[in-house]
Amino acid sequence: VNSRIENPLFPDVDTPALLLDETRLHANIAILQQQAASSGLALRPHAKAHKCAHVARLQMEAGAVGLCAAKLGEAEAMADGGITDVLVTTPIVGPLKIGRLMRLAQRITVRVVVDDERNVHELARAASAAQIVLRVVIEVDVGQHRCGVDSGLRAAALAHCIHAQASLTLAGVQGYQGSLQCQADYAERRRGIVAAMDALAQSVNAIREAGFAVPVITGGGTGSFPIDRVLGCLTEVQPGSYVTMDSAYNAIDWCEAGGRMPLRAPLSILASVVSCATPGRAIIDVGWKAASSDGHVPVCRDRPDLIFEFAGDEHGLLTSSTGSLDLVPGDRIELMPGHCDTTVNLYDRFVVHAGGRVQAIWPIEARGKSN
Ligand SMILES: Cc1ncc(COP(=O)(O)O)c(C=O)c1O
Repeated sequence: VNSRIENPLFPDVDTPALLLDETRLHANIAILQQQAASSGLALRPHAKAHKCAHVARLQMEAGAVGLCAAKLGEAEAMADGGITDVLVTTPIVGPLKIGRLMRLAQRITVRVVVDDERNVHELARAASAAQIVLRVVIEVDVGQHRCGVDSGLRAAALAHCIHAQASLTLAGVQGYQGSLQCQADYAERRRGIVAAMDALAQSVNAIREAGFAVPVITGGGTGSFPIDRVLGCLTEVQPGSYVTMDSAYNAIDWCEAGGRMPLRAPLSILASVVSCATPGRAIIDVGWKAASSDGHVPVCRDRPDLIFEFAGDEHGLLTSSTGSLDLVPGDRIELMPGHCDTTVNLYDRFVVHAGGRVQAIWPIEARGKSN
């Protein structure tokens, strides 16, 4: 008789389920908050990773100045969950969304990024009609080539345009270099982040030389955090994944000497073995619909000998590096997902546990809120 069948992991939890280790979660929140504060940085965690108002409230209680949201739906879910200060880190365009943004800005403190004069005019008209003064943040392209103005000249021109609108106020600049965050080699990541922050500083200087104040310089993620702490360019950091972590982030160097992250990995997927019909192969109930497949593959926690491969929408394949597999149907395995954001987005709730027992269920309110 397989002992894991007699004493399975979380027997009351049906699988697949998204687990969150409460002790590790609290530790990660405390570590980043303390490190940000000791470096004189405001911490504004990104809600796009956890999408959960309960986690956001814990981050606020620990000392965060507010949350970031990638989408308006995420920002609305955070507001519904009691978060009163949100920076929307993606431009909000078009009358439908801008209408929602105005309603949100009437409820809580909202900042939104802008990188286009047409959008500035659209926001200004709506803010004026809503009788509010909307805080906007100029997004600067610091090398990711996604959103953002691409030069100090354009940043200063946009600042002039914002200044001319009575219903808008310039709250700061944002520069985020996402493509470098998971760069495993610290020295290479640092080189890229230094260049990105140089580009951001040039835009900040250009805006200031044009006569405008830049109260907040915001950006950065989990991978750049140890670098942002010492560079001194940002005044506010936006890490998201640090709170849950994933197998991509778990593999990066945290400092020059190749040292590992001080962060633990609270997030895992609980899976069940459903078939062992072929010797040497076990099929589990986690496929593309239960784990992100956009980057790194899930890693089996506590079983480094097991190798996971996606085997379809609902199926995953486990083999063993030792050649022999000791699994039977009904066995349970914990997987560390490859990418936390896109995994969390697949689940309605976190099963929160401590000491090997389920402690709470936290809804993931912003899950699927992609608009
Ligand atoms: C603008 C912005 N800020 C911060 C983050 C958080 O980064 P991470 O999850 O790598 O910590 C992201 C993530 O994509 C982002 O898009």
